[in-house]
Amino acid sequence: MDDPIKEKLRDIKCQTILDVATGQGNLIGYLKELFPDSDEIVGIDNSPKAIKAAREKFSGNGYRFEQMDASKMSFDNNYFDAVALSNSLHHFAEPKAILNEMYRVLKPGGLLMVFEMFRDNQNTSQKTHVLLHHWWAAVDSATGIVHNETYSRNEILDMLANLGLREFAVFDYADPNDDAREEKRIKWMKDIYKDYFARIEGKPEYTKLVGRGKELMKRLDKYGITWATMIGYVGKK
Ligand SMILES: C[S@@+](CC[C@H](N)C(=O)[O-])C[C@H]1O[C@@H](n2cnc3c(N)ncnc32)[C@H](O)[C@@H]1O
Repeated sequence: MDDPIKEKLRDIKCQTILDVATGQGNLIGYLKELFPDSDEIVGIDNSPKAIKAAREKFSGNGYRFEQMDASKMSFDNNYFDAVALSNSLHHFAEPKAILNEMYRVLKPGGLLMVFEMFRDNQNTSQKTHVLLHHWWAAVDSATGIVHNETYSRNEILDMLANLGLREFAVFDYADPNDDAREEKRIKWMKDIYKDYFARIEGKPEYTKLVGRGKELMKRLDKYGITWATMIGYVGKK
């Protein structure tokens, strides 16, 4: 798949990079591809389990992982050349506070990058992904985990516009060759469903959420699933 952001950032050098809500470090490899000359890529997450997994995956020099709440980072102002966030805005209780922190720790002239799927303008099989995602969010919420429904594309852009960055690049990513009937992915979605289903046993929302989940499994069989289009945003401070 073409990557317009890679193309646009080809001649830009960044030495110190922060990946906010890094999870198991899924974005780290991509950040290293974007900025191969970087001195240090730092990943933060408030989950100790995620940080442990990320450390195991990226053990070499040039990578550092710290358990930290992204709404109260311990870094100095204007510290990083680039600050990135992927697949996480809708996982935050306070997305605006975290975006403000990302801005604070970014150097003037530095790049703030956000990658996030959105809920609107998706085709039928992508809509299965969005609706499943909203069901996962409802199950997580019933078990006390912060997980909001995905935002619309404009809601994401509005949150970013409030930071006052100079817009550098905005692209939508979807794979035109994505196969809605890919067996491996459909099985994976069904396995996740079983796992989520087990997590709400005994909760007051059980009957309602199970009914909704069963409808989604029927939808999965009827229309299949492809990954929802994601926005990639790069702004300059
Ligand atoms: C869906 S994961 C995304 C992980 C990774 N960025 C990726 O693209 O795969 C969302 C992550 O946000 C983290 N998270 C949620 N709230 C946070 C906060 N206040 N501070 C730091 N991390 C947070 C969670 O622990 C989780 O690892």
